[in-house]
Amino acid sequence: MAQPRHVAVIMDGNGRWAQSRRHNRFWGHIRGAKAAKTIIEHAAQSNLECLSLFAFSKENWARPAQEVNLLMKLLVKQLYKETKTLMQNNIRFYCIGEKEILPQEVQVAVNKTEMATRANTGMKLIFAISYSGHTDIINATKKVAEKVKAGELQPQDINDEVIASHLMTAAFPDPDLIIRTSGEERVSNFYLWQAAYSEFCFINTLWPDFTANDFDQALEKFGKKERRFGQTSEQIVKTIQTDKHRIVLNH
Ligand code: IPE
Ligand code: IPE
Ligand code: MG
Repeated sequence: MAQPRHVAVIMDGNGRWAQSRRHNRFWGHIRGAKAAKTIIEHAAQSNLECLSLFAFSKENWARPAQEVNLLMKLLVKQLYKETKTLMQNNIRFYCIGEKEILPQEVQVAVNKTEMATRANTGMKLIFAISYSGHTDIINATKKVAEKVKAGELQPQDINDEVIASHLMTAAFPDPDLIIRTSGEERVSNFYLWQAAYSEFCFINTLWPDFTANDFDQALEKFGKKERRFGQTSEQIVKTIQTDKHRIVLNH
């Protein structure tokens, strides 16, 4: 069965999880952080190459200040607390998003975690914090425009690879699978460019209830899909058969 190289998760539904239990929304975020830890460890132990977690969108800054502040504090606390989990599992941590607008203490915690894990060679964990797909594309466009202006690049040479290599995700393959919890079926300005050929898995479970088993089920569903990338089913089957034939011949 085909295995994804990169799985991205839109961790949604913390607020509803708490509110349905007559708790403050923040309680949902605390439980959501626990679910994130479980999934991170499970994905690393399953030998996944890249795991992206959408933790805070650029649009989330518009939430009530108290919720934003508490989320930022929770993020800092978790990063310091879980560095040892990252080390034990050989996970390399990356943060993408508009880092410069994060509170100073978040920037410090993010930088320290990136530095502490930089020699780890296992799963790449990409935390999207204050991330916006539009902003990512706009910033890439600005960098490309600067190169054109400086004469380093000709406009006719701008192609998919050029744009992709200027995005915040330049170092990672595009996500093969994007999972969104909580029943919402939208992308909410996450990976727009990168999701061109991602498979989507929308599940009704609220994020704090999401388990390693749910993750495995999403991967199993992914494994059964035929990814055609614009080609016909017959072409895909033929390519797979040719590849299998090649493997047999090479042995
Ligand atoms: C996702 O849960 C976490 C963040 C966006 C930070 P929500 O807080 O969006 O939970 P719901 O969607 O309101 O239930
Ligand atoms: C998307 O969830 C962002 C994260 C999960 C971090 P939201 O709850 O912010 O998305 P909308 O507003 O329902 O689209
Ligand atoms: Mg939400």
